Amino acid sequence: MFGKKKVIPQIDKDQLELIENAQKRIKQKKRLYIHFVIFLIGAAFLIVANTALKIGKDFKPFELDWFVSAILIWLFLLIYHILNVFILNKFMGKTWEQEQLDKLVAKQQNRIKKLKSNFIKEEALLAQSEVYNDEKDKKSTPKSELTIIVAAAENDAIGKDNKLIWHLSDDLKHFKNLTNEHHIIMGRKTFESFLKPLPNRTHIVITRQNNYKAPEGVIIVNSLKDAIDAAKIDKQPFIIGGGEIYKQALQIANKIELTRVHENFKADTFFPKIDMNLWKETSKTFHTKDEKHKHEFSFITYEKK
Ligand SMILES: NC(=O)c1ccc[n+]([C@@H]2O[C@H](COP(=O)([O-])OP(=O)(O)OC[C@H]3O[C@@H](n4cnc5c(N)ncnc54)[C@H](OP(=O)(O)O)[C@@H]3O)[C@@H](O)[C@H]2O)c1
Repeated sequence: MFGKKKVIPQIDKDQLELIENAQKRIKQKKRLYIHFVIFLIGAAFLIVANTALKIGKDFKPFELDWFVSAILIWLFLLIYHILNVFILNKFMGKTWEQEQLDKLVAKQQNRIKKLKSNFIKEEALLAQSEVYNDEKDKKSTPKSELTIIVAAAENDAIGKDNKLIWHLSDDLKHFKNLTNEHHIIMGRKTFESFLKPLPNRTHIVITRQNNYKAPEGVIIVNSLKDAIDAAKIDKQPFIIGGGEIYKQALQIANKIELTRVHENFKADTFFPKIDMNLWKETSKTFHTKDEKHKHEFSFITYEKK
């Protein structure tokens, strides 16, 4: 039961026929060679028999010594044998060679056809699996979450004279924590309100100016769309202001991280009204006044419905 199986050679019928024919051909030539050698020995023997041993000295058919006639007849038979092997013989002659060649060509063509069809099948499978993997990737990788981060007063004030209106230490920390290592998208004016670029974040500045100069590493674009494209590798790029950019981004953002400062302020820049038909509040944390925080505020998260 567990003994070795007899190995059956995997040679097809045509190949077997070719091998058998080659063997036959070798035998055929061998026989001709033996015939030739026997002819030489035989002829020598006949010459010796007639001339030296005087056998049948007086027997002269066709007025020739009998051994000459015998050798000539034998020679004729040998020539016929040679002709038969190399010229007259149908087996392995020109037509036979052509037939074999045609057979081989047909065989190779069949193999190529088979390989081609296997290749096409494999290609199709590969393409299918690529599509499947793409779909899987699309399903498994979460969509990029474009997030607006803003601090706005009860009256939606966000800035005055290109500056923030308040200083709330925990709000700055909150901003820092959320945006750390992310792309931050901003209008040119907001960018210019910073003393220098913020560490650990990739800045993308939107301007209509063509030759706007910014420090190395800051990405300059001419539209909000280009800014979002430039942040494509980020799963959560942040829109950080100011008023003009918030207005444009509110329609396309997925999330808002709002710090609502619970007072009204005089300002020249405002955050647009949040339409509660489109947004739902998903979390809220209240922060009281203290020595570091002159105003009460709440961290509120909104997500698009
Ligand atoms: N409270 C907060 O959370 C907060 C956050 C950020 C900012 N802010 C405040 O907001 C104020 C700044 O806001 P802002 O509205 O005046 O300015 P901004 O939105 O920061 O920048 C406006 C500039 O962005 C460029 N821009 C806007 N839309 C564009 C578009 N579609 N295509 C190309 N470029 C475009 C233009 O730059 P060019 O003129 O160069 O073409 C435009 O002048 C400041 O007071 C700042 O302190 C507050």
